[in-house]
Amino acid sequence: MSTLVVEYLPGYPISHARVLLDHLLTRLPAREEVRRHDLLIDPAPIFTAESLRAYVKRDMMGEAIDDAERALLRPADRLIADVLATDVLVLAFPLHNFSVPAAIKAYFDAIMFNNSTFRVGPAPGQYAGLMTAKKALVLSAAGGVYDAPPFDTMNFMTPLVETEFRFMGFDATEVVLAEGMVRPPEEKAASLARAVHRVTEVAGRWYDSAASAERIDA
Ligand SMILES: Cc1cc2nc3c(=O)[nH]c(=O)nc-3n(C[C@H](O)[C@H](O)[C@H](O)COP(=O)(O)O)c2cc1C
Repeated sequence: MSTLVVEYLPGYPISHARVLLDHLLTRLPAREEVRRHDLLIDPAPIFTAESLRAYVKRDMMGEAIDDAERALLRPADRLIADVLATDVLVLAFPLHNFSVPAAIKAYFDAIMFNNSTFRVGPAPGQYAGLMTAKKALVLSAAGGVYDAPPFDTMNFMTPLVETEFRFMGFDATEVVLAEGMVRPPEEKAASLARAVHRVTEVAGRWYDSAASAERIDA
């Protein structure tokens, strides 16, 4: 199996989502092929008028594009090729302003390409995801807690990522959110420990647990 980690973790002085990611990496089988893409170093492209025109021509209208237009789409095409080559896509990022940070939204916008990760049809208004037989794991951290009013309706991150992955046809999506990272130390530590435990549980279900132990012992 192969795992692609796409991370955007600018957290200072520490990133709690990185704690979850580091823990996941200890739970993977030793033979798991792990590739990493740091969006802080290599951000996803954002559509310009020219690149959007090339995308619509090639992938919506089925029209020929020239070399210059192909070059404009290459950064997104590379990101898509990376997803196509993976079994599990892990996204690690903080909750910013009640949703995914812009860097992560740009990543979704760069991989959600017609005829690559989903397709339109067969009937008008229908769509089919092309990323079947893949799983997505989202590791995130939030300052607040979203279990009671008025905050319980303010986490737009979880429904957004679940919708994006379902739309692309992913078989399963798990979201592990360490909430309350700006709460008093004991509350925060308990919440982080619960999130770490959930990472262990998901890794145990998705990866060969005997092989995970191998990696920990190594
Ligand atoms: C720019 C910015 C926006 C934030 N917005 C939210 C928010 O909308 N809701 C929330 O609960 N916490 C918010 N926080 C707090 C972070 O989610 C929290 O610090 C979390 O631990 C970040 O993840 P990290 O520790 O991996 O960096 C924000 C923090 C920053 C820096």
